[in-house]
Amino acid sequence: MENQFLLLPGPTQIPNRVLQAANQPMISHRSGTFKDIFGQVTENAKRIFCTKNDLLILTCSGTAGLEASVVNFLNSGDKVIVASTGNFGRRYRDIAEAHGMDIDYIEFPMGKAVDPAVIAEKLAADTEQKIKAIIIQQHETSTGVYNPLDKISAARGNHPALLLVDAVSGLGACPLKTDEWGLDVVVTSSQKALMVPPGLCLVTVSQRAWAAAANNHNHKFYLDLSKAKKYADDRQTPFTPAVSLVYALDEAVNMLNEQGIDNVIAEHYFRRDAIRASIKALGLKPVADDQVAGGAVTAVYCPEGITAAEITGIMREKYDTVIAGGMGDIKKTSFRIAHLGFVRDMDLIAAIGALELALYELGYKFELGTGVGACQKVIIEKRKVFTDRD
Ligand SMILES: Cc1ncc(COP(=O)(O)O)c(C=O)c1O
Repeated sequence: MENQFLLLPGPTQIPNRVLQAANQPMISHRSGTFKDIFGQVTENAKRIFCTKNDLLILTCSGTAGLEASVVNFLNSGDKVIVASTGNFGRRYRDIAEAHGMDIDYIEFPMGKAVDPAVIAEKLAADTEQKIKAIIIQQHETSTGVYNPLDKISAARGNHPALLLVDAVSGLGACPLKTDEWGLDVVVTSSQKALMVPPGLCLVTVSQRAWAAAANNHNHKFYLDLSKAKKYADDRQTPFTPAVSLVYALDEAVNMLNEQGIDNVIAEHYFRRDAIRASIKALGLKPVADDQVAGGAVTAVYCPEGITAAEITGIMREKYDTVIAGGMGDIKKTSFRIAHLGFVRDMDLIAAIGALELALYELGYKFELGTGVGACQKVIIEKRKVFTDRD
């Protein structure tokens, strides 16, 4: 199979170091060797979440981790606020609904972030403190919007509602300080900014969330996080883990920690700037407002009369460049260039180059090279590239 150039919001490109780490002989998941690796990666991954909370590594996709956050820390019938900015907000709502929560669903306008004042108002009005949790995305993958989790957490004041965070596409690409911001449960999965193949999910749990788990009566088995914690304390998992992915995660986490998580996130925002500059130079409009655009994905409205499937199809079939179509209400009218995980400067230029070729073929009027030039300018600025004459 030919290598495809992936600029998807997952699975993302895997660095060779990580691929090679995954490609090692199988060992028993009950062996001391596995325990050493599992214990090490669990501790090291906490640095990516900026936390000392418990971190559980599960073999499942991100959605299962989100479901675990609902079934372990909330009881069926509990009142919750779901603050949504798009498709994945709706998915978190659907999970809460499937488990019988009493949901106050608030959807913010397309391209905008969650307004902390709205959350503060809802909680202030809840004098009996019936609201048990606020459920939210760190980064909404359908629009590329980053939600200000620090302000949303602060909006709780003294209200005891837990903050459950879907950081599936944002962790490692957008800011997230679990302990400093008091985030109770944070969920991510391996195939995004962590640069690992799909199959692992990472969940952090605060002491407040464990206290809620102690009073939890929902049916659960595979997703029982108290059981996962009991085993994790002994550097194991209750069931057979994806051993090769744990090797891969260990290496990827090392790579991220070598660079430092703040630097990793700064790089993602530089990529965001390069892609947004290119898009705007081409006369296209990003979905997310400038002030709330995250570092993981740039969603872009298609030009009038051209569909997302036409653009993504040409890029994929002719140029082996795989970007994502739109989601939800803007499925046909937007496309998404993901720049999370392992993405280099030349990848940005190549992506915009392939986009230009597709737009040109589809009859969109612009000067070839405009987007690529804008991208190069942001790179020159960032990397401090000088000409011989400087
Ligand atoms: C914000 C967000 N939440 C949840 C998911 C679902 O994760 P998974 O596909 O790993 O179940 C995704 C996947 O793209 C996502 O971007």
